[in-house]
Amino acid sequence: MSGGPTPALGWLWTVRPLGAHGGGDRAAGRIGAATARTLAARGAAVVIGDVDPRAADVVSEIEGAGGRALSVRCDVTDEESVAALSMKHALRHMDAQGSGAVVAVSSILRLVGQTNSAPYSAAKAGVANLVRSAGLEYAPTGIRINADAPGYVETPLTAGLDESVRSQMTARQPIGRLGTPEEVAEVICFLASDAASFVTGAVWSVDGGYVAQ
Ligand SMILES: NC(=O)c1ccc[n+]([C@@H]2O[C@H](COP(=O)([O-])OP(=O)(O)OC[C@H]3O[C@@H](n4cnc5c(N)ncnc54)[C@H](O)[C@@H]3O)[C@@H](O)[C@H]2O)c1
Repeated sequence: MSGGPTPALGWLWTVRPLGAHGGGDRAAGRIGAATARTLAARGAAVVIGDVDPRAADVVSEIEGAGGRALSVRCDVTDEESVAALSMKHALRHMDAQGSGAVVAVSSILRLVGQTNSAPYSAAKAGVANLVRSAGLEYAPTGIRINADAPGYVETPLTAGLDESVRSQMTARQPIGRLGTPEEVAEVICFLASDAASFVTGAVWSVDGGYVAQ
């Protein structure tokens, strides 16, 4: 990856709580797919964990472009199904090798509320504090644990919203537009790379200035 050696493996977890996502035309989550493509283009071997079997389409695309990828169908609500890929288990392997990087995906809603979003914002605040505490615990081991925290991003979900809602979202982001999955993926890849070797326990805003207000 730019700015540092390529990670041998990237685990992708960009899961949104079930029921909160819409659109039937995507192959794996938009941000997850963009991250997988970006990581693979920079030399990482990528494992995509997703409940949706269409993650295999992203794998085919990456392989077609000469990259290395594998998809594993699993459900994060089922401990057995995610066992080998969960952060809890991955940390054991990273600990044994004395290095590794975990990047979770939080949200602007870790800091602010939004109507009809109580479980989501509670979960995203939890992700933010999980990486802070886990980052501290693992700092002496050579493992870095961070999160990327997007604002409103162009995805099938936001594309399908009423124009007035989209305008409100755009107006709340000082940069004056929604983000792209690729812009979020860039920060995830940075945090996963050795270019971020002094970054741990951090939650990086990728939100066009939303939480700076
Ligand atoms: N899109 C945005 O505006 C935005 C903003 C802030 C944060 N985020 C966060 O970014 C991440 C990715 O968002 P996205 O917009 O790409 O979402 P998306 O809905 O396109 O992708 C989510 C993926 O999670 C998978 N998934 C859902 N439930 C699962 C389960 N139980 N087990 C395994 N996989 C499951 C889905 O199949 C899908 O591929 C999410 O964590 C989301 O909360 C998104």
